[in-house]
This record gives sequence, C-alpha cells and structure tokens, in this order.
Amino acid sequence: MNEDLFYQGLIKLIDLERDWVPSSEETSLYIRPFIIATDPYVGVRPSNTYKFMIILSPVGAYYPEGFKPVSIYVTDKYVRAVKGGLGAVKTPANYAASLLAAEDAKKAGYTQVLWLDGCEKKYIEEVGTMNIFFVINNQIITPALEGSILGGMTRDSVLKVAKKWGLEIREDAITIDEVYAAYQNGTLQEIFGTGTAAVISPVSELKWNDKIIIPGDGKVGKISQKLYDYINGVQYGLRNDDFNWVTEL
Ligand SMILES: Cc1ncc(COP(=O)(O)O)c(C=O)c1O
Repeated sequence: MNEDLFYQGLIKLIDLERDWVPSSEETSLYIRPFIIATDPYVGVRPSNTYKFMIILSPVGAYYPEGFKPVSIYVTDKYVRAVKGGLGAVKTPANYAASLLAAEDAKKAGYTQVLWLDGCEKKYIEEVGTMNIFFVINNQIITPALEGSILGGMTRDSVLKVAKKWGLEIREDAITIDEVYAAYQNGTLQEIFGTGTAAVISPVSELKWNDKIIIPGDGKVGKISQKLYDYINGVQYGLRNDDFNWVTEL
C-alpha cells in the first residue's frame, strides 16, 4: 500500500463521516481498513488489481461493567502460524486457522486461545486477537517479533510507555514451562493481552492441559491498570500526548 494514499483516504473518510463518531464516555469509532483482490480470474496467483476499502463502525464501551480480567485456554493441539508463514501479517488465513481452537476454548468456558509456536509447541506466541505480556519478578516480558506473530500497535505502545516509566522490559522467547514455573515459585505477578479494541486485557487464569496458572491474586494487576489508564487517557484526550500519537480532525 501507498502509505500516504492510505492515510489521506482515512482522514478524508473520517472527516466526511464525523457525525458518526460517538461522543459518550468510553465509546469509539472502530476503523477497519482492508484490501481484496479484484482480477476476474479463478486460480492461484497474485492479483494485478485490488480494491482498498475502509469500514467505520461506532462501537460502545469495551468494558461496560468496568475493567474485567479474562481467562484463556492454552492450546498445544492446534497451531496458528509458523516462522516463514503468514503469522506476522493481518491476513484472513491466520484467522481461519484459529476458529476451531477458539470454539474448543469457548466450549471449555474460556474467552480466547493462547497459541504456542508451531514447531515445538512450547514457546508462547500470542492470543487470538491480542499480543501477550507477562510480569515476572518485576520484569515485563513479551514474545519477540520473529515472523510468526502480529506486531500489534498496542504492543508497541505498551513497550514505549513501559520504557518511559523506566520499567524493566524483555522482548524474548518465553516458554509456557517458564510461566508455569514462575507461577509455582510465586514470581508470576501479572499477565495481560494488548489489542486495539480492549487496549489492555488483564488475564486472571491460563488453562494449560490439566494445569491452571493464576497470576498474582487473579485480580487486575497494578501495571495492567496503570497502562490501561495511561493509553486510554491519551486516546480520549484526558492526558498529555507525550508520544505525539493523537491526530486532531
Ligand atoms: C492476531 C492478532 N494479534 C495481535 C493483535 C493486536 O494488534 P493491535 O494492537 O494492532 O490491535 C491483533 C489485533 O487484531 C490480532 O488480530
């Protein structure tokens, strides 16, 4: 995509549709850009023509009953993506590959799936529609971007904010065994997901086969709450925009 065309089109569209931007507390305008191939052709090859579109939809508060932790199901039966595959880009194939595991998780009473790496099924990758962070022994750890997970915007924002606050950060490979060991020795303080819609989604429980992992006391952790308040505050213009993230229309 031509970035300038993308950005100017987006700004123009939101300006045209400004009456649809909801203004009550915690609501937002969800923006979904997407692109489809339009060659009149049946077969497997890249298209020569494409259509780029943007859907705008007003949405209500993500946490209408307050900031609530979620419980997550770790799968080692299915895999979402592998290094050298499509995992790092936002393409429908990744989501198609995730649907069956998500159904299993829902049936078991969990909201989303935590994916492990496609080869050894031991390294943590990401959650269905979120990147994942752990706070272990006061250090913030998130899987490094090595080609099989999405480099989310919110992940990037969290890393920038945590760095500014002087917190210790590790972008690295982390195994589910390490997380379980941290839980067992009492150093697993927090787990949270990051994504555009939820911003920060605190995790109260991971179910990994017959094991249950509960960070801290299972309630919203201090760092999760502080990050949510900060990023949400910048988005709603309630706080200083230290990183120059906001565009006024
Ligand atoms: C697979 C996956 N990972 C991570 C994310 C979070 O990305 P972002 O913070 O850019 O919303 C998403 C968001 O849709 C996602 O679908």
